[in-house]
Parts: sequence; C-alpha cells; structure tokens
Amino acid sequence: MAWRKVARRSEVPAGQGIKVEVDGHPVAIWHTAAGEIYATDDTCTHARASLTEGGLEGNVCVCPRHGARFDVRTGAVRALPAVVPLRTYPVRVDGDDIWIDY
Ligand code: FES
Repeated sequence: MAWRKVARRSEVPAGQGIKVEVDGHPVAIWHTAAGEIYATDDTCTHARASLTEGGLEGNVCVCPRHGARFDVRTGAVRALPAVVPLRTYPVRVDGDDIWIDY
C-alpha cells in the first residue's frame, strides 16, 4: 500500500462520486453532502456495474444495475442483491488534493 494522489476535491461535487483509475483499477471517490470524502472500489460486488454511475444517498451508494446499496464509509452491504462488501481505502485530504492509501 502507498499513498496516491487520485483527484481534486473541487472535481467531486458534493453528494456524488467520480471514478478514477489507480493502476488500471476503477476506484470511486465519494463526496458526501456532509462534506466527507471516502474511497471504495467502483465495481459492484454483485455483477460488476460501475457504482459511480448510480447515486449517493447520505453515506450510501446505490448500484444503478440492480439496486444494491453499500455504506461508502465501511463498504458494508446495506441492501441486496449484493452480499459481499466493497473494498474501501484510507483517504487523506490535503488542501484540494485527495490521496488514498492504495
Ligand atoms: S450489479 Fe450492482 S446490484 Fe447487481
């Protein structure tokens, strides 16, 4: 694991997420309406949809394909059909720069 600068906070609208690539791996950077930044895998653990193409409701992202929900703070599943949690990454925000420990 190593800290990587992956995005700028100003690029991620509050209440949404953006997809970034880290070593070719899709990672979701989430900016909650409360102003917190979190990082998870972007790929749904159910059938591999891109989670950043769905919505963010509070701290929960909603898969656009079949509606599974995950807590972006912990990766925990909040609604079926997914059963496997999302991988999460430690986040550090330094000014406008978002770093993740990947
Ligand atoms: S691909 Fe996400 S719920 Fe099925």
